[in-house]
Amino acid sequence: MSLKEILIHPDPRLKKETAPVAEFDRELARLADDMLETMYDAPGIGLAAPQVGVMQQLLVMDCVKEAETEKPRPMVLINPQVIWASDELSTYEEGCLSIPDQYADVTRPAEVKVRWLGVDGTPQEEQFSGLWATCVQHEIDHLHGKLFIDYLKPMKRQMITRKMQKLKRERARL
Ligand code: NI
Repeated sequence: MSLKEILIHPDPRLKKETAPVAEFDRELARLADDMLETMYDAPGIGLAAPQVGVMQQLLVMDCVKEAETEKPRPMVLINPQVIWASDELSTYEEGCLSIPDQYADVTRPAEVKVRWLGVDGTPQEEQFSGLWATCVQHEIDHLHGKLFIDYLKPMKRQMITRKMQKLKRERARL
């Protein structure tokens, strides 16, 4: 396994639509493992393929909060689709590994039912609530070129984008 480099906003690859995965081979399984390792290392609770420069419909997540008392639950979702969303909404303070140290409230459906394929291509379905629901929607957005800051008012979004441009310039100088 190896760590992947996480792209930082703004990057054109974070704004693009991704393609569905068609081949369920060893390369795909390795990519999923690498993405999980990269996510845990960051540390983060979700990571989508475009964030590591892979333009395919794949995301990983593990929203277990009490890591000391609860078992980890690494999940790999390929070609995921939201097939139902609750009318009830919930607001979470979201962040993103591609937008380090920036957080803002985002309102989304409180519960969603998602259908996806596992690494071996088997269909799966689950209804998510709480942090899991927020996370899975945030990551699915990434697969369609959408970031959590796209839900914010233009002023706030531009402020965060300028901070990220500055961060990237500083990193490039190191
Ligand atoms: Ni994100």
